[in-house]
Amino acid sequence: MAEPSFAASSLVTVDDYESAARERLTPTAYDYYRSGADEEHTLRRNREAFSRYEIWYRTLVDVATPRLATTVLGDDVAFPILVAPTAYHRLACAEGERATARGAAAVGTIYCASTLATTTLEDVAVAAPSAPRWFQLYVHKDRAFTARLVARAKAAGYRAIVVTADAPVLGRRLADVRNEFCLPDGMLMANLVEALPPDLRDGAGSELARFFAARHDPSFVWSDLEEIVRQAAPLPVVVKGIVRPDDARKALDHGARAVWVSNHGGRQLDLAPATIDVLGDVARAVGDRCEVYVDGGIRSGTHALVALGLGARAVFVGRPVLWGLAAAGAEGVAGVLELMRDELIRAMQLAGCPDPEATRDDLIRRR
Ligand SMILES: Cc1cc2nc3c(=O)[nH]c(=O)nc-3n(C[C@H](O)[C@H](O)[C@H](O)COP(=O)(O)O)c2cc1C
Repeated sequence: MAEPSFAASSLVTVDDYESAARERLTPTAYDYYRSGADEEHTLRRNREAFSRYEIWYRTLVDVATPRLATTVLGDDVAFPILVAPTAYHRLACAEGERATARGAAAVGTIYCASTLATTTLEDVAVAAPSAPRWFQLYVHKDRAFTARLVARAKAAGYRAIVVTADAPVLGRRLADVRNEFCLPDGMLMANLVEALPPDLRDGAGSELARFFAARHDPSFVWSDLEEIVRQAAPLPVVVKGIVRPDDARKALDHGARAVWVSNHGGRQLDLAPATIDVLGDVARAVGDRCEVYVDGGIRSGTHALVALGLGARAVFVGRPVLWGLAAAGAEGVAGVLELMRDELIRAMQLAGCPDPEATRDDLIRRR
């Protein structure tokens, strides 16, 4: 791994990591990572929505030794900030998803690998063999192929299957359309080699959009989820991409073990609500039935604290990890996660919360 050309001490926020990453990425790769769908209202809202929340901190609580460790679906994590599935990590560094897996494992958290990784799920597994990891699944029209992906993830020791539900078709990311974004020579969707159309490179606009249209199944419905749940067993299935309380209940009714509030980082339906604004309603709708996770616009430990307070068992971060990866490979991934962990510790201490449970009840209010 190349030594970072910047002083790590200058990276004191996630935005600093983004600036460092931008210097190292091609403009096309940066656009792919950064962009959202259409006018990017939801991309912006995810982050801006946090400014509407207040943390009604408690005073004179013993916060000398805050406890961050928790479990997700029974597996230990050192702190409740996990790595969301994002595609194409070899655009960020030569080692790609293997570096992400090592970076997440180094700090004791879980990496959810994407179907659209540029490294096979088996190679990701051996990169950090002892760390728990999840596999994110896109459902293909070819259901036998989809079942093989699930079987491969099980065989490779993944601990959960995450079904992404917010992408029946690909959102229109204008930067990628304009850039005619495609993977550079020598990189491919490594899990999907047998499914890649031979003429994928041909045509205007985004290669990924063409791939989605050719392979992904927009007719996948709740009752079909049960088939995935059966294939995944005994692994738990998590449904990712929920913003509605009724959808959260449906996910559980059809066999999911947990729900993940997400709008795909603003990359799918523009004008979808900010995830932090819907988290509380979803958490109330499922009550004690399952764990709830959230992602979208979380750029600091303080944001993570707000999400925990509104009912998330853990939060996931997408772009921050890509910025860490592009800035300094596995060390950058670990660095950005440690930064957010340390911010969460400080926010918990200042809020009078010795542990994640103490963030519940009336700590968070919306203005
Ligand atoms: C570059 C990029 C690629 C992504 N690829 C996937 C993917 O392959 N599968 C998936 O379920 N979500 C994907 N997502 C969505 C993330 O899992 C996550 O929901 C989102 O990034 C969270 O928002 P944040 O980036 O503001 O943290 C992607 C997001 C980005 C930014």
